[in-house]
Amino acid sequence: MSAQLSSESQFQERIVKVDVPSSHYAYLVAPDGNFLVPQGDGLGTSSTADDLAIWYQPNQGTIKHGSRDLQLHLTDDGNGGVSLRFGNQSIDGNGEPGDAACFKLGHGPEKRPSEYLEFFRANGWVCLTSILADDVLEELERVSCTDRHAGREYDSSQPPFNQSSAMARTAAEPVSLWLMRQYMQTDEVRLGHTPSLALLSQDDGKRNVQGWHSDFPYLWGISGSINKHRHPIVDGRVPTPSGPAVLGIQRNVCISPFTSVGGATAFKLGSHAKDQGPPREWGTGSDHGRPGYRAEHGLPYSGPEADIVEAPGGSIILYDSRTWHRAGVNRTDKRRSAMLQAMIPGYMLPFMDTSASYKSFKKCEAYQDLTTRERDELRRLMIHYIAGPMGRHAITTDAELTEELRASLGDTRSLY
Ligand SMILES: [Fe+2]
Repeated sequence: MSAQLSSESQFQERIVKVDVPSSHYAYLVAPDGNFLVPQGDGLGTSSTADDLAIWYQPNQGTIKHGSRDLQLHLTDDGNGGVSLRFGNQSIDGNGEPGDAACFKLGHGPEKRPSEYLEFFRANGWVCLTSILADDVLEELERVSCTDRHAGREYDSSQPPFNQSSAMARTAAEPVSLWLMRQYMQTDEVRLGHTPSLALLSQDDGKRNVQGWHSDFPYLWGISGSINKHRHPIVDGRVPTPSGPAVLGIQRNVCISPFTSVGGATAFKLGSHAKDQGPPREWGTGSDHGRPGYRAEHGLPYSGPEADIVEAPGGSIILYDSRTWHRAGVNRTDKRRSAMLQAMIPGYMLPFMDTSASYKSFKKCEAYQDLTTRERDELRRLMIHYIAGPMGRHAITTDAELTEELRASLGDTRSLY
């Protein structure tokens, strides 16, 4: 194939467009950040956002449970909070009868969590459309300097994660966490790296673009080395199919709207079920990573067998990390922002060390803004540990041993 510039006719992917929701459920968020849920004959609180945490408001003074025959009276306290009554009794911060606590009416999902889970299990991906509250979304745009804050100058003095509580709040988004715990069949879910921003600027028709691959920890299609048979399944980090053991879920948060022309991720939806890497003829990440590759060979596969999920800003796309995908090609002059997170079960090693950034984050103002629930989630997500006969021990990197290791490998900095 000769060198070519990208023209619109090259992009033939099937578009899967999710509609902007016409309504959302609500959460009733206690002062500690936990969710009000039915418990026995009464109420209680929970850190889990499954169907029990889902409510809706049929009218100003009433809130009804999303799946139980349960209704509460709600009074606006004039300061952004609400107080609740169950029958004649006020509800305290633990959901029990007592002095009325100040609850927050939280922006909930479009669908019940169990509906998302059913779709996720059946398809290997799911979109939680517009699940972020607008104030959180705008904060992410501000840190990214995109969309409503496109004119702002990017602050590179500290990591985006430390710049605003919106990054951690998004990492602690409760429905996506519940879904991932269910899909990976473990409560021990961690961040494989500290959340950061992925900003995609306008394509210039020449520069290399990302090729097809599976995400961490599989990394099929993007290994630094290919064996003599050049078979894609031996590419990457996980040497065999993993079957029912789900070793990773990618959580892509759309900060900018994801559109085909604006650089939305391209997928082969459902390809996780093949449990092997993408075909080399689609143009894999390892091939497209070579200097000058695009100039010589053109773009990776962008035909009708591929899919683009178009979703509004504030949506979260979860996909089984085995799913073949590649970064989109941004044909607009607007930068596209996303917050991408490789999520793993606790028994996997992370992609990057999160311990130092967790400790640094705890010293920031952004940490102070979080609720107790959100802080607890961040601790669970970011402290990786070993658990053995001597109990639990948090793990981190070791400078002395790193030096020895690198010296023994001739310090190639190879990840493989
Ligand atoms: Fe990826």
